Amino acid sequence: MKNKCLYIQTFGCQMNVHDSEQISALLSGIGYQQTDNIKLSDLIILNTCSIREKATHKVYSQLGRIGKLKEQNPELIIGVVGCLAQHLGTKFHRKEDCLDFVSGTQNIHLLPEIINTLIKDRKKITEIDFHNSLSAMNIFATPGKDRISAFVTIMQGCNNFCSYCVVPYLRGREISRTSKDIIEEIIKLVDLGIKEVTLLGQNVNSYGKNLNDGSNFTSLIKKIGEIFGIKRIRFTTSHPRDLSLELMNCFAEEEKLCSHIHLPVQSGSNRVLELMNRGYKIEEYTKKIDYLRKISPQISITSDIIVGFPGETVKDYQETIDMMEKIRFDSTFSFKYSEREGTAAQKLEGKIPEDEKLIRLEKLQMMQNKHTLEKNIELERSLQELLVEGESKNSKSDLMGRTSSNKIVNFRGEPDLIGKFVEVEISKAYLHSLKGKIKKSKEACIVY
Ligand code: 5AD
Ligand code: SF4
Repeated sequence: MKNKCLYIQTFGCQMNVHDSEQISALLSGIGYQQTDNIKLSDLIILNTCSIREKATHKVYSQLGRIGKLKEQNPELIIGVVGCLAQHLGTKFHRKEDCLDFVSGTQNIHLLPEIINTLIKDRKKITEIDFHNSLSAMNIFATPGKDRISAFVTIMQGCNNFCSYCVVPYLRGREISRTSKDIIEEIIKLVDLGIKEVTLLGQNVNSYGKNLNDGSNFTSLIKKIGEIFGIKRIRFTTSHPRDLSLELMNCFAEEEKLCSHIHLPVQSGSNRVLELMNRGYKIEEYTKKIDYLRKISPQISITSDIIVGFPGETVKDYQETIDMMEKIRFDSTFSFKYSEREGTAAQKLEGKIPEDEKLIRLEKLQMMQNKHTLEKNIELERSLQELLVEGESKNSKSDLMGRTSSNKIVNFRGEPDLIGKFVEVEISKAYLHSLKGKIKKSKEACIVY
């Protein structure tokens, strides 16, 4: 049978990136090979995001372009999956005539069946039911593109209902996979050559709450740490309220746990944090950061921040700026508040005009860039252990590796170092990366 071509475009978070890896693997089972050339494809899937309005606009404009391809090739199958698909369901078909199927966040496992049905009978399909069982969703091991690191879903959904956020409505309630399933998946990944895993979930540190078997996120990390072959463990995303002392201590005790935590703070104002329903005060957040830095001085701390939340006064905003000056994050993702249908924040008074949100965002981002560069400069002349992931994007004769603290380092090296741990000295810091130099012979720089 001739292979058919699949083009997947992923919008949004790492959860979507991982879902796309699963989709690609599932559809290879029915003869679809992934391509980077959209014009050659027989099947196009957009894995959508709807966390902010901007993300949804990107999906619509891409669908406009893709619709034209269908005019030239009526056999082309076009589908949407992910959060926006979950949100709109059948409405998506009414909005976008070119779509053949709409499949929600808990229905990836149904895609082979959906595609086979469409090949036989071109009737529009919508599948957006929630299953609320991870085994029904059929998660399996998929190594990342580099085949050195991999994402592993440990839980799905979120119960937090932060007032601005659509995720709990679109990804369903929290469900954790059993540690047995997770460990089995990681052992398979090790057999495929994987050295680093990133544990994925909307709120990983509430892992285990629905399992009632005594397991929690810390015990899971410790079990994964015992797997021979796994050298690095990362996780994302964690909620500051659920960051326990036990989990923080893991950064000092568990050798394989990388020195990086992404801990979204969202705002520096207690009044705004309460309106956001975040469940902590800024003093509690700052105390946790101080503790993490005390027990793990190398740790890098990154965060998410929203500006222009309804009712955010100049004073509230200034409190966010002051908090950032005090904490000095390694980097942050910052966003203008985006109103989402059905969320509690949609009903709040005091909406901030777009141009004011932009002014607040730009000022904050300028300050963050200064901090990021300063943090990177602090690493100049230090020795860093890198896991070499592949060729550098900047130059074909350079390689790219990542420090335990999740910083990208480009350095001159031979391709046979890819997949190895090497030691380099940081020679120059930039805003988005570092430059490194191998100081010893090639053989001696290999740590393992
Ligand atoms: N508006 C702006 N930013 C948002 N985020 C989530 N929902 C919204 C929204 N409605 C941001 C938060 C979250 C990150 C993934 O996206 O900062 O941590
Ligand atoms: Fe959204 Fe809050 Fe859940 Fe994160 S913790 S996914 S921001 S509701």
